[in-house]
Amino acid sequence: MCGIVGYVGPKDCSEVLVSALSKLEYRGYDSAGIAVFSDNEIKTVKTKGKLKDLEDKLSIIGSPEGNVGIGHTRWATHGEPSDVNSHPHSGARVTIVHNGIIENYIELKEFLVSKGREFLSDTDTEVVAQLLDYSYNGNPLETIDNVMAELKGSFALGIMFRDFPDRIFAVRRESPLIVGVGEGECFIASDVPAILQYTRDYYLLDHDEIATLTREGVSFVDEHLEPLEKELKTADWDMESAEKGGYPHFMIKEINEQPNAIRTTIMPRIKNGLPCLDEYGITIDKIKDFNSVTIVACGTAMHAGMVGKYVIEDLARVPVNVDIASEFRYRNPIINKGDLVIIVSQSGETADSLAAMRLAKKKGATTLAIVNAKGSSIAREADMLIYTLAGPEIAVASTKAYITQLSVIYLFAFELALAKETISEAECKRLVSALMKMPEAVQYVIDHCEEDCKFVATKLVAAESLLYIGRGLDYALSMEGSLKLKEVSYIHSESYAAGELKHGTISLIDENMPVIAVATQTDIIPKTISNIVEVKSRGASIILVCTDACARGLKEGIADYVIEIPHTDELLMPITAVVPLQILAYYTAINRGNDPDKPRNLAKSVTVE
Ligand code: AGP
Repeated sequence: MCGIVGYVGPKDCSEVLVSALSKLEYRGYDSAGIAVFSDNEIKTVKTKGKLKDLEDKLSIIGSPEGNVGIGHTRWATHGEPSDVNSHPHSGARVTIVHNGIIENYIELKEFLVSKGREFLSDTDTEVVAQLLDYSYNGNPLETIDNVMAELKGSFALGIMFRDFPDRIFAVRRESPLIVGVGEGECFIASDVPAILQYTRDYYLLDHDEIATLTREGVSFVDEHLEPLEKELKTADWDMESAEKGGYPHFMIKEINEQPNAIRTTIMPRIKNGLPCLDEYGITIDKIKDFNSVTIVACGTAMHAGMVGKYVIEDLARVPVNVDIASEFRYRNPIINKGDLVIIVSQSGETADSLAAMRLAKKKGATTLAIVNAKGSSIAREADMLIYTLAGPEIAVASTKAYITQLSVIYLFAFELALAKETISEAECKRLVSALMKMPEAVQYVIDHCEEDCKFVATKLVAAESLLYIGRGLDYALSMEGSLKLKEVSYIHSESYAAGELKHGTISLIDENMPVIAVATQTDIIPKTISNIVEVKSRGASIILVCTDACARGLKEGIADYVIEIPHTDELLMPITAVVPLQILAYYTAINRGNDPDKPRNLAKSVTVE
């Protein structure tokens, strides 16, 4: 999604803006631009392509010299990626950058055209720039406030008025925006990593609040233009955690960070060998009466929910529905007062997940958010909140966020099972103790499976399509393995419940379709073996991810390649079994010449519908 930055201070603004934008590259983008007050005018430089293209353009035409400006990386929504559609966009006296979607931009554009305004681009953003210019009354705050009242949709805006060369303005509705403050300088940014090299102190801008940034500091007003006092926050993510730290890509760095991410996430939530979630408002008394659970999320986070379904149902005997947020929100779901709805999200800003949570609340449900990004919208609006403590996840392909989402879901499942008295305290302690061993188990898999995965990845490089199969938890996990592979390698893949193949999909199998079979659940191993044999006999080459225990039960020669992982408690196997699937996806992407950190067409945080 688009990235916004802005700067007011003593430094070379162009340099700060480009550097800050480079820290938002992970969000996904197709063009970039900056606007700087320079020689009494607003100078804009923008281009289709990557930041490197912008830097090349700046070095040819010269960077605008100045100390106040805004910058943007665009992920195209309205209008193709092109120089002219890139941000910043301007009216005669106003220049802006925008993240989000203006839903009523067509009506607004028609109105402005009827007033004689002309447009250069296809974007909804230029409509806002022109509307601000059209509505300008000499008072920027009043103008912004009046225009906000006309806008429908989601937006975060960085705004410069030609008449106020010492300041920038920022406003948001739905789309995230933060305001950073340093010594004699202020920043705006879509996300914390953009400002970490300059300051760790920041404010979270709330809906319909307007910030004015000057060298002297920042002031805030609400939608009635009443002054606001806001709480200054300090980022506990340091620069190092948002850098590659010697790894070639964030994706492999983050895969390697998983043991620590699990440890950091679970250890503060365990007391006397039992889950302890009281701090987050989750007590036995509070949850014992929930008779159903709905988990709503998107993509990888939804896949963590799929594992959650198997685990919660198995342990707590409570039915669990897993819903894709974009479906849930438009389906009039059956959610009643007192139901529990869990929203899982790394960014905490995914538009569909946020809307789904609001709908659940409206229907009277109690909401529990499992979120990674501190202070994000979902985190702030949920009734109960457990942070995954994965640290910043920069790679678009989620890895450490998924594994920590699983970790939190396990802790919650244990607590719910205790509340429901479906497991004894002793059994719960056994499970918690097994969970506490997972950081070491994941480390073992990273240390021992990387070479196998690297080798198998060389065999996948020419594949056009792949199937992932498994049963039970292995099926839930396969969904994530399949998504990981397709998003970074661009090879088509599907995950299938192994027993369902023969009802149609097996017709796709031939020698050109590799099958990745996950088999970690001993009780259903004979069934999975039968399904593997079925596809093998139709020519598929089999890559088998299995535990040492399962491997012993497998007949000789069933798989072409085996990636063996250690046996842990079987309920917890998704935590270790996902790791080879992530590494396999990573190396397949590398072998195909793709940048796994910035897959085409994808954005890290999907803040628009
Ligand atoms: C997974 O690798 C993707 N980045 C994507 O599926 C992601 O999980 C999804 O967009 C949800 O994002 P969220 O966790 O920030 O809500």
